[in-house]
Amino acid sequence: MSEILGFVVNGRSVEVAVLPHQRLIDVLRGPLGLTGTKEGCGEGECGACTVIVDGRTVNACLFPALEIAGREVVTIEGLADPPGELSTIQQAFVDHGAIQCGFCSPGMILSAKALLDAHPDPDDGAIREALMGNLCRCTGYVQIVDAVRHAATRLRDTEPSEGGPR
Ligand code: FES
Ligand code: FES
Repeated sequence: MSEILGFVVNGRSVEVAVLPHQRLIDVLRGPLGLTGTKEGCGEGECGACTVIVDGRTVNACLFPALEIAGREVVTIEGLADPPGELSTIQQAFVDHGAIQCGFCSPGMILSAKALLDAHPDPDDGAIREALMGNLCRCTGYVQIVDAVRHAATRLRDTEPSEGGPR
């Protein structure tokens, strides 16, 4: 038996019918059509499904959909604003060649966003730690850390931000 849950996704209030066995990723990619969130392992290991819930990263493949009621979710689709323009972090990933096949990129970028929202001036150790749960089989991580460091600098240079896209 499904339950109708209300929550906020990328600044928009939504109501979705959720079944007890469903995970947050099922709801995002299914009825909400937000297929930017990727499913890799489905077991909490790879981080491809990372989204931000109430300011913290979660693995959407493990997060029970029934627990999303009343919460605020940010997916990769919520970063581009205005639509079609890359956010600062997204642009930095492109500029540094931190995106190759791109499968890890949505989760990686959302982990970077959560880090920079909380800690605008992280050192490389903090960046690596924040991205530890996000696996990338392509880049070797150097370009990704470079991209996040560069995005942090650009965001600090352009602050104050009003909580807009990063
Ligand atoms: Fe969720 Fe791998 S798909 S952690
Ligand atoms: Fe291919 Fe990261 S760019 S897995």
